[in-house]
Amino acid sequence: MTACNMRSTEFLSAQIGPYSSGYLSVKIRSRNGNAEVVRAVAVDHSSTVVKEVSGLSNLILRRPPLTPIPRVVETEKRKVSTDDDDDDDGNDQGRFGMFGGKYVPETLMACLSQLESEFNSVLKDTEFQAELATALRDYVGRETPLYFAQRLTNRYKNSNGEGPHIYLKREDLNHGGAYKMNNAIAQAMIAKRLGRKTVVAATGAGQHGIATAAACAKHSLECTIFMGTKDMEKQSSNLHLMKLLGANVKSVDGSFKDASSEAIRNWVGNLETSYYLSGTVVGPHPCPSMVREFQSVIGKETRRQAMEKWVGKPDVLLACVGSGSNALGLFHEFVKDKDVRLIGVEGAGFGLGSGRHSATLARGDVGVYHGAMSYLLQDEEGQILEPYSIAVGLQYPGVGPELSFLKASGRAEFYTATDQEALDACQLLCRLEGIIPSLEASHALAFLNKLCPTLPAGTKVVVSCSGRGDKDVATLSNSIH
Ligand SMILES: Cc1ncc(COP(=O)(O)O)c(C=O)c1O
Repeated sequence: MTACNMRSTEFLSAQIGPYSSGYLSVKIRSRNGNAEVVRAVAVDHSSTVVKEVSGLSNLILRRPPLTPIPRVVETEKRKVSTDDDDDDDGNDQGRFGMFGGKYVPETLMACLSQLESEFNSVLKDTEFQAELATALRDYVGRETPLYFAQRLTNRYKNSNGEGPHIYLKREDLNHGGAYKMNNAIAQAMIAKRLGRKTVVAATGAGQHGIATAAACAKHSLECTIFMGTKDMEKQSSNLHLMKLLGANVKSVDGSFKDASSEAIRNWVGNLETSYYLSGTVVGPHPCPSMVREFQSVIGKETRRQAMEKWVGKPDVLLACVGSGSNALGLFHEFVKDKDVRLIGVEGAGFGLGSGRHSATLARGDVGVYHGAMSYLLQDEEGQILEPYSIAVGLQYPGVGPELSFLKASGRAEFYTATDQEALDACQLLCRLEGIIPSLEASHALAFLNKLCPTLPAGTKVVVSCSGRGDKDVATLSNSIH
């Protein structure tokens, strides 16, 4: 899959379509601030070269100045929820600084515009909001507890008996075992409103697959889930659960990124009848905004619960980052509270130097992938690199555009944890608190080792326990004794 690489390297690649029934893909050489096309080809939707395009080689393209990143963080959420003009005039392309957008073939634009206008309408629709609130309470099981982890807190006390206070936002207690259900149930309701009969989705760890399959069963929608063969092997219990819930599970050679491409391809062939239920804050606008909006219940509850428990705000929010939806779900409510630290933890796999990691924000560059501009793991030619983490849900070569913006603007901090650190953290939580976190959430927990000694006594840290570890039992029992 080709990505548009915005590094200051000599050669850049970009899909700047649409062209005929696919894209025009160009390779560009940058020179004195300008860019010159050195090769142009037409590619179809599966990125197969259809033909060479001549006549462009002498075209000098002036690179547009990159949008400066504002110092004050103004996320696009405000436009969606409060600015009617932006919502309705179609000009809002879901930009977060330079990130986001809609890099899709023309054929998809109408469908995405329809989705955007439906999304904007449900935000204001009191009937929809009431139905969603009931579903979140009675079906998903919200609100989830903000649990004070007393023994974990004790573990990080210094020799004076002082240290931060650690709380877990228990998203593992949601129906389906993860935060994924918050978004799936809401989007299934949108699919229904749009009159769609079938839903397609892609899953990595299987949690979004389970959430989508369950939401589709509840709303009588036919459900097809695409999953990579490598992930099926590692998360086989979730594969069985999806089937039990009535989903048609299709295997795709590879991992989550390949399953995502296949699900999108399938959807593009059935735009009239089918709904693509995005599971995370990536993809073309409005997908990142929509998923973020439905996940932001996590942060809203956290604010309320913190107020009840210690009459204040959290000081630090900590979440793992695969493509970014549990992190944004927790962070978004607090983006404007500058006194709240937002910390994301990516998968360092076998170590950042090993080349086998999924640390997109730590090691990636800006480019376009799956329809939006964000940080990506890519090589000099703009080819996507295979991500790796012991936590299947962290294996994505991109990351949400809004999170990319939070990194670029300096509002959020991002660190990494290795496979081994995550396994150790998982074991620690099992033994100290009797809670089995998913391997994804264990990455956030692992960072407590480095973070806690640096924090003033009494600092209130909220960790997103994004899912439960039942799905990881095979990996855990091979690694933890
Ligand atoms: C339990 C759990 N936590 C975290 C993630 C990471 O995804 P994201 O970064 O979008 O929250 C996943 C992804 O599948 C997951 O299943």
